[in-house]
Amino acid sequence: FLHKLVLGIETSCDDTAAAVVDETGNVLGEAIHSQTEVHLKTGGIVPAVAQQLHRENIQRIVQEVLSASKVSPSELSAIATTVKPGLALSLGVGLSFSLQLVDQLKKPFIPIHHMEAHALTIRLLNKVEFPFLVLLISGGHCLLALVRGVSDFLLLGKSLDIAPGDMLDKVARRLSLIKHPECSTMSGGKAIEHLAKQGNKLHFAIKPPMQRAKNCDFSFSGLQHVIDKIIMQKEKEEGLQRGQVLSSAAHVAAAVQHTTACHVAERTHRAILFCQQRRLLSPSNAVLVVSGGVASNLYIRKALEIVTNATQCTLLCPPPRLCTDNGIMIAWNGIERLRAGVGVLHNTEGIRYEPK
Ligand code: KG4
Ligand code: ZN
Repeated sequence: FLHKLVLGIETSCDDTAAAVVDETGNVLGEAIHSQTEVHLKTGGIVPAVAQQLHRENIQRIVQEVLSASKVSPSELSAIATTVKPGLALSLGVGLSFSLQLVDQLKKPFIPIHHMEAHALTIRLLNKVEFPFLVLLISGGHCLLALVRGVSDFLLLGKSLDIAPGDMLDKVARRLSLIKHPECSTMSGGKAIEHLAKQGNKLHFAIKPPMQRAKNCDFSFSGLQHVIDKIIMQKEKEEGLQRGQVLSSAAHVAAAVQHTTACHVAERTHRAILFCQQRRLLSPSNAVLVVSGGVASNLYIRKALEIVTNATQCTLLCPPPRLCTDNGIMIAWNGIERLRAGVGVLHNTEGIRYEPK
């Protein structure tokens, strides 16, 4: 008896990732090449640089995965690849590579929506039935959606500006936390979480964003500007040069983390109530899945636990390596689509990526 086997390929942003996953959720092989170090030096992702790095690494990453999984390409049931959303130049590398492989091996092709893959990852680990609610919070993502089935999503809310991880990264950069001896190797969000433990979250009075908006959307750029102003004021008071670490940095970190947690929890609470009142989710045993890099923040997770406890929901969170971009979630999304019989293409003639 042969299980279905899918090769998944992800190049939507700054990770070149691939994996082979079987129908039962076994990961036969996985590999990832992160470009983070290069992009840190330029203070952000330069799309053409990301494209070049994907090109340099994709062949090796896919080969590594195939040999690690001891699967011959002919045994694959299909190839699944992220086709949206993401950086066009980065997506193009994965798509071109996959289409070549598909032609060569004569395999079905499964185009993957990156957000759908993040949302379905939990089903590789837990027996989670549809429908469930998903909250995706990372450096590039911020959305709340009701997942009614494979490729059946109801978008309930999204950020109107930047994602929470992006905001935390900007605040950390503004606070020069990279120069703080305890935080120099941490991502912005992690540095904020670490420093916040030494601060008083109520030292600065900050209102959570969008308190009068009766929907499930998010906003983080207003909060970022409020924090910026506080930092500027404090730098003046302490007579600091831009770039030196404030003595009240821990209070700033605690305040921004607390306000982020309040905002995320409040919007999520609203979404749960909306779905429960309309019987889109069970009023007594609904599931909330939280994923993305920011989901690893324990303070934010505590705030979400308060919300799920108050609404009889179960809170589930994939382990960190599956919360961030990876090839496993793409391969698993391929398995889900194969099983559901949706979006499996046997002819890729219409799909061609034209590099700019
Ligand atoms: O999912 P991810 O690795 O990549 C994408 O952005 O798609 O998420 C990275 C983001 C960064 O903005 C980082 O600062 C944030 O997640 N992050 C955290 C924590 N760890 C990572 N934010 C808050 N608390 C953390 N512990
Ligand atoms: Zn992602």
